[in-house]
Amino acid sequence: MKILFLGDIVGKKGREVIRDLLSNLKEKYHADFVIANGENAAHGKGITKKIYDQLISYGVDCITLGNHAFSKKEIINYLPELDKLICPINHTSKLGKGYRYFKVKNKTVCVINCLGTFMQEDYTLNPYVEMDKVFKAKRKCDYYIVDFHAEATAEKRVFFEYYRHKVSAVIGTHTHVQTADEQIIDGSGFISDVGMCGPFDSIIGRDKEECIKKMVKGEHTKYTVSENPPVLCGLYLNFDDKTNKCIEIERIQIKPE
Ligand code: FE2
Repeated sequence: MKILFLGDIVGKKGREVIRDLLSNLKEKYHADFVIANGENAAHGKGITKKIYDQLISYGVDCITLGNHAFSKKEIINYLPELDKLICPINHTSKLGKGYRYFKVKNKTVCVINCLGTFMQEDYTLNPYVEMDKVFKAKRKCDYYIVDFHAEATAEKRVFFEYYRHKVSAVIGTHTHVQTADEQIIDGSGFISDVGMCGPFDSIIGRDKEECIKKMVKGEHTKYTVSENPPVLCGLYLNFDDKTNKCIEIERIQIKPE
């Protein structure tokens, strides 16, 4: 089973890089299944129905979210019908589905989206309590892939260490900066953060000048996504079809020319 995970898609440039590069990537890695984090896909915050459809049409099989899951309120109306969308399992709103099963090559893949608590305390329930409920579900599952959407590297590693005997992979998202710590331990894959698909020359996807005005001068700013050319960040995971264990992990980073 070969899975591609694409990091947080930020704004229009992030969507464009998926449109332009995903089919080649799928071919290169012989991907059976593609997961993408889409929580920043609509102008940097949230996702809309139109953008969901767009990403699916580009070849994404399943879209995970994060702290900005419901920033574009219209998505809430469509939650019952968007069967490839996975909302944070431990968001206090309890909106949407926190995990879903997908049939891929005669196997069952369970994809879970979970928030970390650090700097997200206001809208986050205990991740461990909510995660444990997934494993209590009776359905037989071959692979559990977790998008752990969290700020702190250490929190992500704690989560992985606690669950690595139960899950196939923990893939960190949210910081938009790819880390070089990908690894496989006892057949379970991990990376602290997969990075983003979005404007490369930016401040985690946002317009640089605007961030300077806000941080240095304390000015009130709106949220402007950078228009600079995009980077594509992702992760390739290969699982042995007999043992279901992770046997290969590779970071992907395609910078603009
Ligand atoms: Fe986030």
